[in-house]
Amino acid sequence: MEQEKQSGLLRTSWAGKPCYRLENVDSTNEYAKKIAEQGAEHGTLILAKEQTRGKGRRGRAWMSPKGDNIYMSILLRPQIEPNNASMLTLVAAMAVAEGIREVSGLKTQIKWPNDIVVQGKKVCGILTEMSAEVGKVHYVVIGIGINVHNRDFPQEIRETATSLDLQAGTRQDQTELVEAIWKAFEGYYESYCKTQDMSALQEKYNRQLANCDQAVKVLNGEYSYEGIARGITPKGELLVETEGETRLVSSGEVSVRGIYGYV
Ligand code: BTN
Repeated sequence: MEQEKQSGLLRTSWAGKPCYRLENVDSTNEYAKKIAEQGAEHGTLILAKEQTRGKGRRGRAWMSPKGDNIYMSILLRPQIEPNNASMLTLVAAMAVAEGIREVSGLKTQIKWPNDIVVQGKKVCGILTEMSAEVGKVHYVVIGIGINVHNRDFPQEIRETATSLDLQAGTRQDQTELVEAIWKAFEGYYESYCKTQDMSALQEKYNRQLANCDQAVKVLNGEYSYEGIARGITPKGELLVETEGETRLVSSGEVSVRGIYGYV
């Protein structure tokens, strides 16, 4: 595996320092977890041009062709309760949405909990993994895959996926995107850490929520129900109104789908 460690690359305070740039790797999340076990520091970023076993949520594969897209994972060592760690994925979603908006000018939205959508189609997925014991987080790895230069998608995701180039109509700069995302992340992460929840970020998150006031179907394997999504709570749960009651949906447990489309 060819690799290069570049510390001065990103104009951020700590996120992305150091930064490892890999030609190819099985999965940037796996690589980040491996170096975390060896003592790598908070803020370390892994960027790869290609992944041979890119991982998506729920055990799915994440297609990772060479050079087309951003595949990256950050290693964090937050001093937080393990129960609060899943909200970091919402924090990352806000940073990606802002970074893309800033660099491309596109209107980005978040499909709860952490897909980034443009014009109702997915441009980014996030996979967060954690190593913890009772009361202590050892580390968190947030993996981000962004469709940047793809011109076409496999049949099964053609209706639901898009890329930044396709949406913007111009070639987007990967380095600018990466830098803007981690700059934004630093601010949101600081807000999150003060309370270990989304209370300071909830309103801003809800303003970008693609599912807000939309009909959704909540599926958790054993059962499913339909309702109207109304936004997130300070704990990052999705509020879903159904049959006169409001239910709290936690990420990780369930999948939320739009009834009339992907969102
Ligand atoms: C999803 O299913 O929406 C999450 C996709 C996450 C993909 C990214 S690409 C970089 C990082 N490495 C992986 O193996 N997965 C994540």
